[in-house]
Amino acid sequence: MTSRAFAAAMVALFAAVALLFSAMPETMAQQVTPTASSVQEDELLRALQTGENVSGRVSIPDRQAGELIKPDNKGWADLSQGTLQTFAVGILVVALIGLALFYFIRGRIALEGGFSGRSILRFGWFERLAHWMLASTFIVLALTGLNLVIGRAVILPIVGENAFGTLSSWGKIAHNYLAWPFMISLAIVFVLWIVHNIPGRIDLEWIKQGGGFMKKGVHPPAKKFNAGQKIVFWCVVLGGAAMSYTGVMLLFPHLAGTGADWQFYQVVHAVVAGLLSAVILGHIYIGTLGMEGAFDAMGKGEVDENWAEQHHSLWAREVKSAAVSPAKSDEAIAPAE
Ligand code: HEM
Repeated sequence: MTSRAFAAAMVALFAAVALLFSAMPETMAQQVTPTASSVQEDELLRALQTGENVSGRVSIPDRQAGELIKPDNKGWADLSQGTLQTFAVGILVVALIGLALFYFIRGRIALEGGFSGRSILRFGWFERLAHWMLASTFIVLALTGLNLVIGRAVILPIVGENAFGTLSSWGKIAHNYLAWPFMISLAIVFVLWIVHNIPGRIDLEWIKQGGGFMKKGVHPPAKKFNAGQKIVFWCVVLGGAAMSYTGVMLLFPHLAGTGADWQFYQVVHAVVAGLLSAVILGHIYIGTLGMEGAFDAMGKGEVDENWAEQHHSLWAREVKSAAVSPAKSDEAIAPAE
């Protein structure tokens, strides 16, 4: 081939390639240069400083995952890492200090007259099973949730990065899965005990007398649950329902709506968790250290007759009168073991 023919062939080849590229569809051209339309690092850094929105394209159903930087989120991040953190720790510390003060000032609420040796059935096995399922799942959920809020600041420096990483990843799994037995037991407890938790006139008297908690020898009458317990019941039912609803929204963000809605659910979840945990600390105190003879109700299912008379006089009378009637023998007074 002469040099002139070679040059003509090269020109023809370049012309053909140029023609081919100009005819290529836009999508194919993008495939050839995959990074051409992606967000560059300097763009991200600039957006962080100037507060611009940066978003890209995703092929998964959750389109919001394409939003890389949203300046509005900064306010939410500050709220959840700052204010909410302080709130959660603050309310638990206040509750613990309050209970400690109550214990040192009032002391344990004693069983006046001592144990009679005769016991009364208070909760059947199914009620206790539901209560302990609710209690154990709540406690694990509260601790693993608290770890998300303050674990990095409090636990990480103590146990180190590796242990904290393992603990937190197991904690996250436990939190996500135990939410379901928590919701089931919450629904069961609601159905079992709602009938005993309808507020009545007698509850006002109990509240007026502070439940008799502050003065020895004062015992306002109460049915199966007194006003204080009714308050605990409704806090657990309504607070638990709010935790459940917002928790499901957090687990499945595409159900939550916009990113702002998801953030709203996260704030409600954290605030209700703090308030409910404080109430439950008070409940656990009364059920264990705070009141002599109370734990037996959920431990053995039976309480001493004197305890029933002292704290739930109307209920005790009801059970005793049913015991003398043979038709209602299922709630009979049983001799102590
Ligand atoms: C170690 C933890 C706990 C202990 C020792 C405990 C103990 C008790 C006891 C003794 C009772 C029966 C009181 C009575 O006979 O009048 C009771 C009732 C109840 N518990 Fe718990 N409990 C614990 C945790 C929880 C948790 C975490 C929840 C809910 C999230 C819960 C919800 C309830 C409810 C709704 C009642 C009925 C209303 C009331 O008595 O206040 N408990 N508990």
